[in-house]
Order: sequence, then C-alpha cells, then structure tokens
Amino acid sequence: YPGAQEFLPDTLDLPSLAAASRGCRGCDLYKAAERTVFGAGSDEARMLLVGEQPGDQEDRAGEPFVGPAGRLLDKALEDAGIDRGTVYVTNAVKHFRFERAANGKRRIHKKPSGGQIAACRPWLLAELDTVRPDVVVCLGATAAQALLGKDFKLTEHRGEVLRLDEELRSSHDPAVLATIHPSAILRARSNRDDALRSLVGDLQRAASLR
Ligand code: URA
Ligand code: SF4
Repeated sequence: YPGAQEFLPDTLDLPSLAAASRGCRGCDLYKAAERTVFGAGSDEARMLLVGEQPGDQEDRAGEPFVGPAGRLLDKALEDAGIDRGTVYVTNAVKHFRFERAANGKRRIHKKPSGGQIAACRPWLLAELDTVRPDVVVCLGATAAQALLGKDFKLTEHRGEVLRLDEELRSSHDPAVLATIHPSAILRARSNRDDALRSLVGDLQRAASLR
C-alpha cells in the first residue's frame, strides 16, 4: 500500500484533515466502503480514544462509534464520569473493512491487516499532533498495535500507563493506555458486567491522567 501520507493536507487542523481524508486512497479499503469515517470531537480534547475501524453503521453515518459498540462506549464513558462531548474519538483505520455474507446482503466486519493499519496511521498521527491530548486510550488490539507497536500484547499490558511506540514519538508525548474494545464486551457470552466494569475502571484511570 502507498499509505495515507501523500494525501495529508498542508494545513493540519481538524476540518482540513477530515476534508482531505475523504479523498484518501492510501490502501484499497476506500473501494468497497461507502465513505471515510474521520475522528470526531474538539481539538481541545485532553483525552483521545482510538477504536479499530468504523463498522457498518459508522460507514453509513460517517461518524465514529455510533452503532452498538458506540452505545456501549457511551455507557462506559458515562459510568466513568466522562462527558463524551469532551473527548476526541477516532479509529486506527478510517474505512470499514468487511466481507459479504453468503446471501450477499449483510456486511460482516473483517479485521484490518497490519499493512492497512500502517497505511492509515498518518491520519491518526496527524490527529494526535493536532489535538495534542494528555492521554490516549487504545480500545482493543488494533489501536494498540497502531500506536504501541505490532508486538504489543494487550492481555499483558492492559490498563498500564504507557508511552507511544518510540518511532512515533514527536514533540508531543502523551500517556497511552490500552484496554478492551467495547465490541469484545458485546461478544462476550458471560461476565459482561465484569468486562464493562473493567473498561470503566481503565477509562477512569485514563481520565485521572488528564
Ligand atoms: N468499532 C470501532 O472500533 N470503531 C467504530 O467507530 C465503531 C465500532
Ligand atoms: Fe486511506 Fe485509511 Fe481509507 Fe486506507 S483505510 S484508504 S489509508 S483512509
């Protein structure tokens, strides 16, 4: 993949970035998806949350975390005492990757590849450089892989206060915390309440670093 770098605008403010991202062809995911789903929130946000990629509903709406996972994230933020209006929410990959169900109708989420995560990372780094949050929360392994390195093990370092992968550090060096993805809680067959509580706990820890 050529990657997103050549599609970045000269002016790095959020509206310019969002507008430019709509023309991105940095990997092949723009072909099948409906639209680019850029991050949302204020450039004054002191906490930045990173998910994996937009899902079916986000791809239709053009906004991150508005589907089932988004509703659970809203609840977790609320339980943690964090106003979603004060955080910036985005994804490691800006286009929805899916495969068609056998009947051709339903679009089934497919994990982005390491190459696609790397191709899309310039957008995420530009968002980080523009928002300059105190703390970044990686929701799930894909976001963690994008910012903490591809060998990062979520099961081993979940909830720890970390720093960006060395190669990605610029003048801006936020605290980084990785936790489970809200979709993993939705998929869990048992102990959903425990899983939600631990996500809430990690969000609270992250909020205390602002
Ligand atoms: N899952 C994500 O990781 N991001 C979204 O925006 C929606 C679901
Ligand atoms: Fe560009 Fe990212 Fe979309 Fe690939 S997924 S086309 S890199 S915005």
